Amino acid sequence: MESSDNNDFFWSGRFEKPPHELFQQLNASITYDWRLAPYDIQASIAHARMLSAIGVLTTEEFGEIELGLGQVMAEMAQGDLAFELADEDIHTAIEKRLIEKIGDAGKKLHTARSRNDQVATDLAMFVRDQCRQHLSDLVLLLESLYNQAKAGVDVILPGYTHLQRAQPLLLSHHLLAYFEMFRRDFSRFGRALGATLSMPLGAGALAGVNYHVKRSDVAKELGFEQPGANSIDDVANRDFALDYLAAAVNLSIHLSRLAAELILWSSQEFDFVEISDAFTSGSSIMPQKKNPDACELIRARSARVAANYQGLASLLSSLPLAYNKDMQEDKMYVFDTVDILLIALPLTAEMVETLKFNAARMRAAAEESFALATDAADYLAARGVPFRDAHRIIGRLVRKCIDEKKKLGDLTLAELRLESPKFDDSFFQVVDLEASLERKISEGGTGPARVAAQLELAANRLAEMRRVAEALRQ
Ligand code: ARG
Repeated sequence: MESSDNNDFFWSGRFEKPPHELFQQLNASITYDWRLAPYDIQASIAHARMLSAIGVLTTEEFGEIELGLGQVMAEMAQGDLAFELADEDIHTAIEKRLIEKIGDAGKKLHTARSRNDQVATDLAMFVRDQCRQHLSDLVLLLESLYNQAKAGVDVILPGYTHLQRAQPLLLSHHLLAYFEMFRRDFSRFGRALGATLSMPLGAGALAGVNYHVKRSDVAKELGFEQPGANSIDDVANRDFALDYLAAAVNLSIHLSRLAAELILWSSQEFDFVEISDAFTSGSSIMPQKKNPDACELIRARSARVAANYQGLASLLSSLPLAYNKDMQEDKMYVFDTVDILLIALPLTAEMVETLKFNAARMRAAAEESFALATDAADYLAARGVPFRDAHRIIGRLVRKCIDEKKKLGDLTLAELRLESPKFDDSFFQVVDLEASLERKISEGGTGPARVAAQLELAANRLAEMRRVAEALRQ
């Protein structure tokens, strides 16, 4: 990209000197906002169509503009259009190229609009499209989780609190917890999409324009629900971008927590799961290594998404009304986040789909642990021992088992009776993994019947989300 040493700016009329070379570098957003080009062109065509409908442009002029903009888009798609710093931003670059191509008709395009309403419109359309894409990608991830959960209905593992073995769980139940997290993300991106549906175009620089523009017609053509209600807010509003980033922060925290768990679970210490070779890499020195790099990088990028949210929030919080040039940099936070999610989300969907769980190892870990101690305390409580006392008694027996390297079920009835006369032979049926799960009868819990109900609910919700995501892509 070359800087311009002539006075070749649309706004040069009022100036005696050209902008400083360093200021041009500071000022230009063309290095990144070229990504808005398809939206800018679409919005310009809708704007010009409306201008011709209200008699500001002739039908011929509109025809030239529409054709010219189509050609500019094609040139850009082929990479034939070289930008220079004097173009400043994508809006100017497109308009300049249009004027080069079609002459005077092109110079009329910027009637009744400003770059302020233009950029807000382009960005809202861009964010709307990204929300749609993330919603489809979320469906893929939810499908993978659902499929693995369905396959894991007989697999038992120890559940953890404080990363200490706590109580036995069904693998399905564990995976459905992630399903819930990503289901909420789906709702959040739906709401973020909803926040993009008010159209800024027609607000002009901030005060409205001196023409009978038909904003509703333009809004309809561009897929907005309606034009914004207040032209000042239209150009100053970036809530939709912040809503998008807030949804992205939640999602990337969830992706990161899943990744962190897979990193632990795929370690030799846990050995609960194997991540496909496709998402791992080797060490340049240690031939035996298989590192969970994809998970680690997804975890790292969640930090960047959170920083992007913080960045835009800080950028916006001190701005007076209406448009301020600071807002030009809103796009950096949005684009970086989009690029992260466009990889992390479909990658995680495929990685989950291809996970190989080690059911034998999980079961052994549940058996080795004292994950049934709560059930043992409940056994005494059911026999009239107050729960607090029962807890203490089982605690002492656990202590004894640790010292003697035994499990609760290995103790003899005589040893149990030393602690409480309430023990009888039925105790040995209680300290059993399957029996423990069967006793988890509460809604949402890990009991097999409750997990079956959760799976059914998940299937219904998945079908509904798939329907929504598909309808939004039309
Ligand atoms: N490149 C600018 C942006 O992204 C466009 C709006 C510029 N408006 C202005 N009055 N200089 O925000």
